[in-house]
Amino acid sequence: MVSMVNELIVLTGNAHRELAESVCNYLDIPLGKADVFKFANDNTFVRIHENVRQRDVFIIQPTCAPVNDNLMELLIMIDACKRASAGRITAVVPYYGYGRTDKKDQPRVPITARLVADLLTTAGADRMLTVDLHAGQIQGFFNIPVDELTALPILTDYFLAKELSDLVVVAVDIGISKRARDVAERLHAPLAIIEKRRTGNDGQSEILNVIGDVEGKIALTFDDEILTGGTVVNAARALVEQGVSDIYCCVTHPVLSQDASVLIANSDFKELVVADTIPLPAEKRNGKITVLPVAPLLGEAIFRIHRGLSVGEMFN
Ligand code: R5P
Repeated sequence: MVSMVNELIVLTGNAHRELAESVCNYLDIPLGKADVFKFANDNTFVRIHENVRQRDVFIIQPTCAPVNDNLMELLIMIDACKRASAGRITAVVPYYGYGRTDKKDQPRVPITARLVADLLTTAGADRMLTVDLHAGQIQGFFNIPVDELTALPILTDYFLAKELSDLVVVAVDIGISKRARDVAERLHAPLAIIEKRRTGNDGQSEILNVIGDVEGKIALTFDDEILTGGTVVNAARALVEQGVSDIYCCVTHPVLSQDASVLIANSDFKELVVADTIPLPAEKRNGKITVLPVAPLLGEAIFRIHRGLSVGEMFN
């Protein structure tokens, strides 16, 4: 493991303490001490128990459920560090909640992904470090430097090691097809694309078409996140109807809301592989779900940002 100069400090709220501890293990530094809790009146309170004056502060906090609480904790922690004269503050947000609300595609709707970017900047974040945004353009919502990491090498290396023959990578909707193309290239496999249509604001979707040759092949469906599970489970059903021989799924962020993990357990998938950008509690896990760690990815990026080294080189 790398050994750090002492100006670096890593803090966390309550969203994913285990991930923050793993990142600190990678960096070989202790996790900074802070109280982050709610008063009886539901107000979040933060007290940092470390000197952060002029230090390079990294606050690790995915804005997963409970999204608003986790976001508020992050904002308040940034404010506390700013007021304590931190030298530089990086918001490390492995999962960027509200990322799906990134465009005005209906009348009178917000662009909340932009609002959250403004909130983080106004609170005092100097930099942002994140993993697999819902859309890369969200980087442009920030007027501070954003480093977007990707878990794709971690996910694809797992499948490379399986040496699956006659594989086809399937983008579960057109929006994800560019990233699915990268997955396909890494796995030396062809790409198929599912044409999906959202049927309203209730999370429901329908499949219109499977574009590409999948019959008799092992399919690996790819998406950035699973919420209700509807998208990937419908995709699996459509692929089985098209005659695939086996079917796997990989996504970066396992949001797994409602009964998504039950849906996955009862689905046609042989295995679902996800990253641990979001905590996956025991009740959401089942024998079909494999979780791969992103702490080395985040730890290495934090080390490089702190030392002024290239982050892009991590992916060469
Ligand atoms: C949508 O554009 C995203 O890429 C995912 O397909 C979506 O967030 C998955 O949601 P669900 O699991 O509820 O279908």
